[in-house]
Amino acid sequence: MNFEFYLPVEIIFGVGSASKVGQVGRRFGFRVLVVTGRKSSKENGALERVVSSLRKEGADEVFVFDQIGPNPTDKSVNLASELVVRERIDYIVGLGGGSSMDSAKAISIVSSNEGFAWDYVNYPEGPRLIPFLNRPVICIPTTAGTGSEVNRYSVLSNPIRKEKLVLSHSLNYPRVALIDPSLTLSMDERLTAITGLDALMHALESLTNRLSNPFAEELAVRAIRLIRDYLPLAIQEPENLRARTYMSYAAMLSGIAIDRKRVALIHGMEHPVSAHYPQIAHGEGLSALCVAITEFNYRGNPEKYALFAELMGYPPEPHMAVKALDDFLRRVGMRVSLKELGVEREKLERMAEDVYMLARGLFAVNPVEPTMEDLYRLYERAYEGY
Ligand SMILES: [Fe+2]
Repeated sequence: MNFEFYLPVEIIFGVGSASKVGQVGRRFGFRVLVVTGRKSSKENGALERVVSSLRKEGADEVFVFDQIGPNPTDKSVNLASELVVRERIDYIVGLGGGSSMDSAKAISIVSSNEGFAWDYVNYPEGPRLIPFLNRPVICIPTTAGTGSEVNRYSVLSNPIRKEKLVLSHSLNYPRVALIDPSLTLSMDERLTAITGLDALMHALESLTNRLSNPFAEELAVRAIRLIRDYLPLAIQEPENLRARTYMSYAAMLSGIAIDRKRVALIHGMEHPVSAHYPQIAHGEGLSALCVAITEFNYRGNPEKYALFAELMGYPPEPHMAVKALDDFLRRVGMRVSLKELGVEREKLERMAEDVYMLARGLFAVNPVEPTMEDLYRLYERAYEGY
C-alpha cells in the first residue's frame, strides 16, 4: 500500500468551538478581517458571536467584509484584498458556507502577492502567477458540505468571462478550522440538502476516480455512510444536533478526501453550469448532473461503484450505484433536471465546450475518459432529468 498525506490545518471540532475564535486568533496578530455573506451569518447570530469573541480576546481592530454572494467572484476577492492591504490586516476569518471560506482563503493569497484573483486560478495550462506568501486564515463553516475549511481549494467565478475555476495551492490552506455544528442548525431544508449533497459528491468522486489513495478513500467511505444516515434526518429534524454534528463531520472528512484525491467529472461539468447561471447553487448543479454521469462512469471502476452501492444500502453491484444515487436524491427532494433549474437547451453546447477547454485536466482522473460528444450527451440527459 502506498499513499501520501499532508494537511497543515489545525482542526477544532465541537459545539461551541466558534466562540474560541478570539483565543485562537490572537496568536496571528492584532488586526482581523471577517469575510462573510450578506445575510445569513447576521440573521442566525453567528457573525455577532464571532465578532464579540474577536473583540474580547483576539484583536484590537475587527473589520467585516460582508459582500460575498453565492458563487463568489474574483471581483469581491480583489475588493476585499485591497481592504486587507489598506488596513494592514494580520489575519482573516472566513465565516459562512463555501463562498465565504473560499473567498477568505483567496483573499489571503491575493492580498499577500502581486496581481489579482484571476491570476491565481487553474487553467489547464496552469495559473498565470504562483503565490509566495499568505496570511493566516481561520475558517468557520456555517453549512455542512463544502469542506473548504480543511482543504486547499477556492472556487471562484469570473462573471465577465463566464468561467468558474479553482485556485489550488498549498498556501491556500486555512491555518485553523473551527467546526461548530451548532452553527448549521439554522439552515433550511433546501440548503441542508444541497450542501449535504455536495459533501456526498466529494466522497463519491474521490472514492471512485482513478487516483489511488487508500487513506483518502477511507475518509470517503466513512463520509458516505454518515451522509446516508444523517442527511435525511437533518432535513426532517433541523434541530437534531446529533444529525447536524455528523453532517459537519462527514463534510470535513470528504473535504479532506478531495484534497489529495481530487474530484472528477460531476464537479468538472457543474462549474460551467453555475458559471453561466450564477443563480444556480453548486449543490443544485451537482444534483442535476450526478445520476447521468454515474451511469456513464460506473463501468470505469466497477469495484468502487459496487462499494458505493453497498455503503448506500444496496446490493454490491456497480450499476446499483446509479439507483442508489437516484433514490437518495428523491429522498432528500433534490432529483432535479438542468431544465428545472433554469438552464437553456441552447447553452448545452457552449457548456460542453467549456468543460473541454477548462476542465480537461480532470478527464484522465475520471473513471471513464469522456469525449466532447460524451459531454454534450451527458448535459442533454441531465437537462431532461434522466
Ligand atoms: Fe463541491
